[in-house]
Amino acid sequence: MTRQSRKLDHIQYFLETTNYEMNTDTTDIYLMHCCLPEINFDDISMKTELMGFSLDYPIFINAITGGASDVTAINGALARVAKGYKIPMAVGSQMAALEDPTLADSYKIVRKENPEGVVFANIGAYATVKMAQKAANMIDANAIQIHLNVAQELLMPEGDREFSQWLFHIEEIVKALSIPVIVKEVGFGIRKEDAQKLLKTGVHAIDIGGTGGTNFISIESLRRKDFFAKNFTEWGIPTPVSLIEVSEVLSERCSLIASGGISNGLDVVKMVALGAGAVGMSGIFLRELLTKDELALEKCVLRIIDEIRTTMALVGAKDIASLNQIPVVVMGKMAEWLTGRGIDIRKYGMRE
Ligand SMILES: Cc1cc2nc3c(=O)[nH]c(=O)nc-3n(C[C@H](O)[C@H](O)[C@H](O)COP(=O)(O)O)c2cc1C
Repeated sequence: MTRQSRKLDHIQYFLETTNYEMNTDTTDIYLMHCCLPEINFDDISMKTELMGFSLDYPIFINAITGGASDVTAINGALARVAKGYKIPMAVGSQMAALEDPTLADSYKIVRKENPEGVVFANIGAYATVKMAQKAANMIDANAIQIHLNVAQELLMPEGDREFSQWLFHIEEIVKALSIPVIVKEVGFGIRKEDAQKLLKTGVHAIDIGGTGGTNFISIESLRRKDFFAKNFTEWGIPTPVSLIEVSEVLSERCSLIASGGISNGLDVVKMVALGAGAVGMSGIFLRELLTKDELALEKCVLRIIDEIRTTMALVGAKDIASLNQIPVVVMGKMAEWLTGRGIDIRKYGMRE
């Protein structure tokens, strides 16, 4: 199977696997209501900074697609909406265009539609420095994402089986490229031990990409048309658990990004309150675009922004930095999971 037809399969099976409510479970995470906010709704600022880029909102469109002529229109629409709200956008893996340069236009459309925007290139951890540089140059990228997708590769019959050099490749790319490097999972989470290894390479941001949203094991399970993958559909670390784990070991110079099953502003604020500098979303945006249209996608971004502002008013936070100080109570299964990992969750609830 060519990479090009695999891209289209992923989109088709994505629509079949995810339902509209594709939230990661955040019901165990409670933000404490503030009945005396001492701020005016319209004065709330959602401005923030990620890897030196100034953002109006703490959200971005995470990697989705490229690499087939049929998906050029998808990337074009995503890029126009990203431009409209001045939110960053990542393209999908650029390996297809590195192998077949005639596919480059399906990525380049993003830069064409949004010449001044913050755009992230995307490549797998199998990539060499040369490949990463080419991918970045292809779209004049402001930063590059390196995706980690072991679970997906293992469940793809034609997938990669050689992972031993991934960390080395990441380190080499960080050293060689002049733009920030983001390492991201694609929906199975990052544990703190792996984050510590990544920090030693000097990466500029870690996107924990946890479970709860798009599930590539379910997608591959449909593609395989057998039951092998079905036993693994619960595999991975939930987004909030992975976020808290990694925030425990993070150093100041590395940004933390949350993604995986985030589709509303309340959850965005929960993630930011737990340490995320920004939140990436793919599934919710792709679904809006494919099942409705570009206008629906725009409305979806606006809804999420409104929900962020509303939640900030409800917790009495006037800006994004204040969210790091609001009390967050972690209960239930999530609390069990984190205490099982030796993490003291009471400190989040005792913030003042
Ligand atoms: C159809 C589709 C294709 C994707 N392709 C890529 C990719 O090429 N590179 C990558 O890093 N992530 C890719 N992702 C993963 C997303 O960037 C994200 O990590 C994952 O979907 C979890 O976020 P979500 O639950 O908001 O969708 C893809 C996601 C979808 C839905």
